[in-house]
Amino acid sequence: MSDEERHRQSRLVTDEDGAFDAERARDESLPVEDGEVIDTDQLADHQRYLEGRGIYDERNRVNDLTGREWKYATKSVIAEGYPPDVQHDLRSEHGGQKPPRLCAELIGRFSKAGDTVLDPFAGVGGTLLGASFCEHEGTGSRDAIGFERNQRWIDVYENVLERENDERRDRGEPPLETQDLRHGDCASLIEEIPDRSIDLLLTDVPYWHMDELEQTRNERATRASKLGSFDAERAGDDDSGEEDTDSGEFNQDRANDADGVVDSDGAPAEQTKAEWLADMGEKFAKFAATVKSNGHLVVFIGDMYREQSYEFLSADLARAVESAAPVRLVANLIWYDPSKDLHVYGYPFSYVPSMVHQNVLVFRPDRSE
Ligand SMILES: C[S@@+](CC[C@H](N)C(=O)[O-])C[C@H]1O[C@@H](n2cnc3c(N)ncnc32)[C@H](O)[C@@H]1O
Repeated sequence: MSDEERHRQSRLVTDEDGAFDAERARDESLPVEDGEVIDTDQLADHQRYLEGRGIYDERNRVNDLTGREWKYATKSVIAEGYPPDVQHDLRSEHGGQKPPRLCAELIGRFSKAGDTVLDPFAGVGGTLLGASFCEHEGTGSRDAIGFERNQRWIDVYENVLERENDERRDRGEPPLETQDLRHGDCASLIEEIPDRSIDLLLTDVPYWHMDELEQTRNERATRASKLGSFDAERAGDDDSGEEDTDSGEFNQDRANDADGVVDSDGAPAEQTKAEWLADMGEKFAKFAATVKSNGHLVVFIGDMYREQSYEFLSADLARAVESAAPVRLVANLIWYDPSKDLHVYGYPFSYVPSMVHQNVLVFRPDRSE
């Protein structure tokens, strides 16, 4: 690849006139292309060549990735359908669970070995299991702390670990570390976490609960629109109560249940969107104080289609969090699951999107220090 071509690909390393600076690029660990021969004598003092992985820059404060891996990790779309695993049958009781391997991937992008990860809305432990994978899958051990107000999900996490580790022992594999999952309301538990002690906050926020009237109207509209579906088999599947999966499909009833509304363990059963955003803003202001200045806050949030309009929850949440907490949005990654079924709700009368993606908002602390 010529320097000019590289420049078109990457504006990471430019000279004072904005032109690609090949010499600086070499010094500053640009990715190594496949098959490229590395003369290790040419590496700068802060560089190490890792066999099969590329050049690692010892000044890397964000993660343990080499330049080549870093380049891949900057892709704004994660197009991966994570197949059900890690005792998925137990975890799927939750309905809003995230694939532990996707969590491990994000932990690898936004933390280093030995770092501490916090998930204040831990559910059945997608983040915690992801952190435990890091130790065994070559990226180095992370400690994780989770908060969950519903004891039922804590029990599921514990059962998952027990069964998973029994199976691992039977296969002669080392067990997964049990992480620190604490029972209670994150708004109070966060007070136990010292300021600036967390390297990565990775979470999946509880959904906005529409009020009941709005929800009933939506359910009626959804049923009506399904009558127009040309794929009777699919629509039939759906009526038979197809569940949420790790792929992030949204199911309002289960999400409400998952968030404790049905279990009535402290959550308001009805909330306007403005109240939900204010609540999230308030909580993230507390969470942000615990994150180190060079850390990250990474938040899963799906958008919704409701009342014949697109609810851009990710954008609303990003702005609410930015205005309530000293953080700055630096990326919106899209997790696209290519294995997801399409549900044709509006056909042939009205365009209704099939939500096959979730947003992953990435914030960095933005403090004046
Ligand atoms: C979207 S789910 C998270 C699912 C999780 N990523 C997983 O893989 O299982 C959000 C969770 O936050 C919990 N939650 C909601 N509000 C909470 C609060 N104030 N304190 C602690 N947990 C809360 C809910 O019970 C729910 O399990």
